[in-house]
Amino acid sequence: MIMKKALAFDVYGTLIDTSGVYNTLEGLIGKDTQAFMEVWRNKQLEYSFRRGLMGAFVDFSVVTHEALEYCCLLFNRKFKEEQIENLMGVYKVLPAFDDVQSALQELQQKDFSTYAFSNGSALAVSTLLENANITNLFDGVVSVEKTEMFKPSPKVYQHFNDSTNSIKENSWLISGNPFDVMGAINYGMKSIWVRRSSKTVFDPWESIQPTAVISNLGELKSVLSD
Ligand code: 2OP
Repeated sequence: MIMKKALAFDVYGTLIDTSGVYNTLEGLIGKDTQAFMEVWRNKQLEYSFRRGLMGAFVDFSVVTHEALEYCCLLFNRKFKEEQIENLMGVYKVLPAFDDVQSALQELQQKDFSTYAFSNGSALAVSTLLENANITNLFDGVVSVEKTEMFKPSPKVYQHFNDSTNSIKENSWLISGNPFDVMGAINYGMKSIWVRRSSKTVFDPWESIQPTAVISNLGELKSVLSD
């Protein structure tokens, strides 16, 4: 029996467009919004890396909240509690990128199994997919939470394979985040970098480069069929 290729789709920034958070934030702080958003995302990921290395795992939503509090201190912004809750609430209801529906429907017709794979909890990711009306495009959701580690630890990609009864040699990670692509390749999966903006660059580590680079998910079918 030929095993189906297992496709692990990163969520925030790959399937789900987080720019909705930007719009809410702009209403609060105006001109500092872009800088604030960049620090918030980078600090969110930095905290996940540090917590993984420290063995101090918490739910990814806590990491996001702590990174937001860091930004408030750095930018000297004091939000009211309900403004913080509103900002965190926006993270739970964000739209999918325009290319997700058609690209995933194409893949479902081919012989692939498709999963949403994230640092976010299974509940948070399932809620996001439901609100974005894309739940039906996936065979399931795999969260790192049971490993008590975060991406790019090899443990989380191994957990993906264990959870989906797949093997690394037949698995692809699709992500807009270079650190995630590199983590998957370091573990032994193939990995496609979704480079939605030409302004983003990939880390220049000679030994770890993407299996393929695409600018939108519509290109997946041809890359995966090669
Ligand atoms: C994820 O969804 C953080 O975008 C990363 O796992």
